[in-house]
Amino acid sequence: MPSIQALKHVPGSAVDFGVAIDNVDLENLTDDDFAIVHDALYHHHLVLFKNQKDLSPKAQYELTKRFDPASEKYGHDKTADNSIHEYFMGVPDQPQVQIKGHGFIKSFMGLQDIKLWHPHHSRTHREVISEEQGDAYTRFNRWHIDAALYGLNPPKVTTLMAVQVPKGRRQTILYGDGSGEELDAPLATTAFISGQKMFNMLSPEDQEFIRTSKAEYAPHPYNWVKPAKMHPTGLSVYTEGREKLESELPPIDPSKIQILPMAWKNPVTGNLSLQVHPAPIRKIHCADGSIIDNLKEVRDLMYRLQRPAISPQYVYAHDWEEGDMVLFNNHGLLHTVVGSLKPDDIRVFRQCNLAASEPPEGP
Ligand SMILES: [Fe+2]
Repeated sequence: MPSIQALKHVPGSAVDFGVAIDNVDLENLTDDDFAIVHDALYHHHLVLFKNQKDLSPKAQYELTKRFDPASEKYGHDKTADNSIHEYFMGVPDQPQVQIKGHGFIKSFMGLQDIKLWHPHHSRTHREVISEEQGDAYTRFNRWHIDAALYGLNPPKVTTLMAVQVPKGRRQTILYGDGSGEELDAPLATTAFISGQKMFNMLSPEDQEFIRTSKAEYAPHPYNWVKPAKMHPTGLSVYTEGREKLESELPPIDPSKIQILPMAWKNPVTGNLSLQVHPAPIRKIHCADGSIIDNLKEVRDLMYRLQRPAISPQYVYAHDWEEGDMVLFNNHGLLHTVVGSLKPDDIRVFRQCNLAASEPPEGP
C-alpha cells in the first residue's frame, strides 16, 4: 500500500505543495496505486518517488502518459522549436524520455559520447554575476511551464529523474531586482512555485482580470524570444527590441499560434492556477475584446502579477539525490533550473512530458 508524507520544507517556508510517496512499484503500476498517485498529484502538485534509478524509460513514459492516455509525442516539436533543438536528446528506445544535464558522458542508455549543457545565466541574463563573486551565487534561469506553446498543447505532467547529481556545495540565488531577496539552495536544484498560490495572492480585481483574459504566445515562441535578455529573477524578459523579426523566423502557420486561458483549472479540485509562461507571451486578450499588444506593457503587467509568488518563502528548491523522481503538475506549477556548474561537474537527468491531447481548461 503506498504511503504519502508531506515534504519537509525549510523553516520559514510557506510552500504548501509537494508530497513523497513510498511503497509504490512504478515499473508495474496497478490501477489502484495509480489512482492514489493521480489523487496526490492533483492535490499536492508535486510527488517525489525515491530510489527509482532502476526504473525503465518505458515505465517513466507510461507513468507520464497515464495522466493523458491519448497523448503520445514529446511536448516539444524538434523542427518547429529549432532554437531549443540543442537541448533535445531522446533515449533511443524511448525517444519521449529526454536526457538533460551537464558535462561529458561516455555512455548512457544507448547514447555514446554525449555532451550536455546545464543552462548558465551568463548566456541568457543581462545582469551576470561577476567572476569575483565566484561560485557562491547564481540566478533562477527561466521560470516556465513545459510547453511548446505553438502547435502542441501544454503537457499535463512532467516526470524528472535524477540519475547523477553534482553534490558538495550550495549556491545562493540572488534575485537581483532591488528587493534584496535571496535564497540558499542546493547546487543545480530545480525550483518550483505554485500557480495556485500565485493566483490566490492577487487582489480580487487582478483575479478577475486573470480569470477573464487570455495569453497569446508568439509564433515559434522560443526562437522569437531567444535573443532577448532575461530579467535577473528569471521571471521576465527585457524589452529592448532584440526579439527576432517575422522574416527571421521559419514560416508561420497561423493555425498553430496559441491563445490560452491565463487561469488553468485543476481537474480534481477545481482550483485555479495562474499559468502564464512569461518569456514567450506576446499579447493579452481582455474580456472586453480589446488586445494589449504593446510588448513592454504585456511583460510589465505579467511581472507585477507573477512576481509576488516567487519570493523565497514560496519557492521549493528540490535537493536532488540520485534516483529521485519528481512527478509534477505542469498545469499547476512553474519551475526553473538553477545553478552555475563548472565544466567538470556531471549532472544527468531523465525528463518526460507529452503534448496534451487537449488544451488546458480555463475557468
Ligand atoms: Fe522544464
